[in-house]
Amino acid sequence: MSTHVPESESESETGAPEQTEEQIPAAQQRRLAKKQERSDQREQRAESESETDEQTVHLKVFRYDPEVESKSRPRFDDFHIPFKKGMTVLDALIYSRDHYDSSLTFRHSCRQAICGSDALFINGAQRLGCQTQVSDLDDPVRIEPLPHQEVVKDLVVDMEHFYEQMDAVDPYFRDEDVPSGLEEQNQTRENREKIKMSTRCIWCGACTSSCNIAAGGNYLGPAAINKAYRFAMDDRESDALQQERFETIEQENGVWRCQTQFSCTNVCPKDIPLTEHIQELKREAVKSNLKFW
Ligand code: SF4
Ligand code: FES
Repeated sequence: MSTHVPESESESETGAPEQTEEQIPAAQQRRLAKKQERSDQREQRAESESETDEQTVHLKVFRYDPEVESKSRPRFDDFHIPFKKGMTVLDALIYSRDHYDSSLTFRHSCRQAICGSDALFINGAQRLGCQTQVSDLDDPVRIEPLPHQEVVKDLVVDMEHFYEQMDAVDPYFRDEDVPSGLEEQNQTRENREKIKMSTRCIWCGACTSSCNIAAGGNYLGPAAINKAYRFAMDDRESDALQQERFETIEQENGVWRCQTQFSCTNVCPKDIPLTEHIQELKREAVKSNLKFW
């Protein structure tokens, strides 16, 4: 008389009776062990990939290259990169360039908000790539070159006009009475305090790019005027030299073009109160032109 034993307990999937471990030849055991190992590895990979997916950041990056015909139509490229805690937009761009597209072009240098070279238009605002945390931004992160400047390639803009504007205000300390030898030119603590914020400018161009009036091209722009402020308010410059600076900033393309919109102040990565400085220069300009009969 035969006894019915359930299939799962008595037979393998092929219908053959199951062998105990001792009955399986050593070579087959090794093959099965390897198979199991591979399957474990696959599972682990799948697990880690799904973890990475949860921490992926999606970048939409402006691309344009006038020198390559197939890339000369402006477009946005998508990059999905693994997110790491503390990652900045500049880190994300560097990762994209190093892992996905070595032709992706952008400027950077110091990576610590000092050189001013990586000002970009990120999610609709002028910001430094190295100072902007990816975790503070909405996904996808949209990265574009600074508006109102000619694009040279991808995220790189032509800064020539910006530098010319800065140059127009003689952005350096001048003094008619330069002391001989190593004598220091002392400044009062109060005067230092007054110009302190204006000295923080890193020439990134974010403020000028944010300014509607500067976009027209015929305005010195907030950065250059702030630079003029930095020296015009320095007590060590002689009255005659200060007067020269006021004449520069009072010109048609100077302070009077500012419409007090505060856009420059809002985007400055060094928190310089640009609009306030421009307003103060307007007041000084009026005072210096007052005549009493
Ligand atoms: S004033 Fe601020 S935003 Fe403008 S160039 Fe200087 S650091 Fe950049
Ligand atoms: S890399 Fe220098 S300011 Fe960002």
